[in-house]
Amino acid sequence: MLLHSSLFPLNPNTLCTSSHKTSTSIITPSNHPGGLEKTSNHEPEPSRFCPCGRRHFLEATATGLLSVSVPPANASDYKTVLNRVHPPRPDWYEEFYASVLNSDATRSYEAEIAAYKSQLFTNLRGKAKRILEIGIGTGPNLKYYANDADVEVFGMDPNVKMERYAQEAAEAAGLLPTNFKFIQAVGEAIPLSDASVDAVIGTLVLCSVANVDQTLQEVKRVLTPGGLYLFVEHVAAKDGTLLRFLQNILDPLQQTVADGCHLTRETGKKINEAGFSAVESSTAFLSNATFVNPQVYGIASKSIRSGLCFCFFLGDVLRGNV
Ligand SMILES: C[S@@+](CC[C@H](N)C(=O)[O-])C[C@H]1O[C@@H](n2cnc3c(N)ncnc32)[C@H](O)[C@@H]1O
Repeated sequence: MLLHSSLFPLNPNTLCTSSHKTSTSIITPSNHPGGLEKTSNHEPEPSRFCPCGRRHFLEATATGLLSVSVPPANASDYKTVLNRVHPPRPDWYEEFYASVLNSDATRSYEAEIAAYKSQLFTNLRGKAKRILEIGIGTGPNLKYYANDADVEVFGMDPNVKMERYAQEAAEAAGLLPTNFKFIQAVGEAIPLSDASVDAVIGTLVLCSVANVDQTLQEVKRVLTPGGLYLFVEHVAAKDGTLLRFLQNILDPLQQTVADGCHLTRETGKKINEAGFSAVESSTAFLSNATFVNPQVYGIASKSIRSGLCFCFFLGDVLRGNV
């Protein structure tokens, strides 16, 4: 069970220091009714957020009035990265891949993961107005988070053929057409300003990006201080298992037939090491996912310290100390 309140164990006395604390808890199948393994990692970020965090917070404040109609930042750069990371494919291939994602095979996966996703997405309720979904595909997650009237969603994917399906899913989820914007881009270069969204969502996408670390840094960059990153990702099975042996053999084939999807990435580890202030994740094995197991799902949060540092800075200014 994800307890979102435990994501924020910040002690004000430790704010703006360079100390690191890491705690890890494992709930093994025997003591977790759902048979899940749960790990949590609360790791205050290094001191780079203080005092320079004040600048980040000023940027966040300046972009705080962004709406979905705001034009992308670094428009030319993100196109260059898009074309490098995801060179244009033939139309028929993009359409074929989109229709596969929209097929019954995916629906049975979605049916099995639904319980996990509903639980995960409750953490967003009332906390996020501007949401970015990276690698949105046909938009299977929209129904979990897009039904609040004032939510604005950026759906991002390099495959422009996903747009039609994602638009339909947004509409079906009850999102106003003006509150959904599809952006053709990759996770490695997100065409949004720093600190411009309250939440980023990514499901089954870090297996396909060209650069996982760069994508995670981009996710952190566009999140507001305290913003949330919700993920569901399939990862490599444990070394030495039969499943891992088969994944190693099938990986090259999977990359070819599944548009660059890798079976053997240690994505959970990458998320833990990406510099979020807290990461809570659980692991699930899904019967419908065969080689695309295990799956890690959870929430990472960006440090709020940059914002609090600004408050202290403002206090200093008002007291005439600066
Ligand atoms: C397996 S699909 C998952 C789609 C959707 N998130 C879901 O859960 O059904 C992977 C998606 O990632 C997209 N993708 C591939 N490379 C990407 C990249 N570098 N950045 C962002 N998305 C990417 C693909 O076009 C595809 O829509």
